[in-house]
Amino acid sequence: MAISKYDLVTLLHGLAFGGFFLMAVYALGYQMFSDEKLNVNKNYLFLIIGIGWIILLLGTYVIYPWYKANPEKLLLANPNQAKWQTFGMEWKEHVAWISVILISATCHILAHFKKQAFEDSRIRLALRTFLVVAFLSASVAGIFGALIAKFAPIHGGALVHLEGWIP
Ligand code: HEM
Repeated sequence: MAISKYDLVTLLHGLAFGGFFLMAVYALGYQMFSDEKLNVNKNYLFLIIGIGWIILLLGTYVIYPWYKANPEKLLLANPNQAKWQTFGMEWKEHVAWISVILISATCHILAHFKKQAFEDSRIRLALRTFLVVAFLSASVAGIFGALIAKFAPIHGGALVHLEGWIP
């Protein structure tokens, strides 16, 4: 069994890290909207921030140049599919960053001022808003990523052999 390097990195960006990020943001939001005390430790909050930035940096500086080289041209060449680039990928290039920036702020505030965040209703409202906006913008980025990968997938790079990893 083998997978190309580009496919593997794209899978890590979207499925592994993107999947974790969305679930983590959802879980944080779930806790923030319930009246129970937040039950997460600092290391976990910083892990969420770290994974968020890995998604952005892998997406922007590693996968995006591969996408520019071929799949983007494929989409733009077909008027029926051009919107996947002009709206879908543009969303990922710009709006997805807002999500990780808001989550970085939220996790920092929760890591350092958890008590105040629960006592002050204005801080709680701000954090809830950040979480909702972050979850929605990352979800849309994920959906566009998965759909664009269907219409104009990235292929290439050396083959990574999975024998020995999978029984
Ligand atoms: C929270 C932010 C993000 C999430 C949740 C996310 C999620 C995803 C997902 C699920 C895929 C499909 C992976 C696959 O099918 O193997 C994907 C692909 C991709 N993402 Fe992201 N992404 C995010 C941010 C970004 C950013 C900031 C960029 C930079 C522009 C980017 C660029 C790409 C590219 C170029 C692809 C491959 C598209 C193709 O195969 O043609 N992503 N992303």
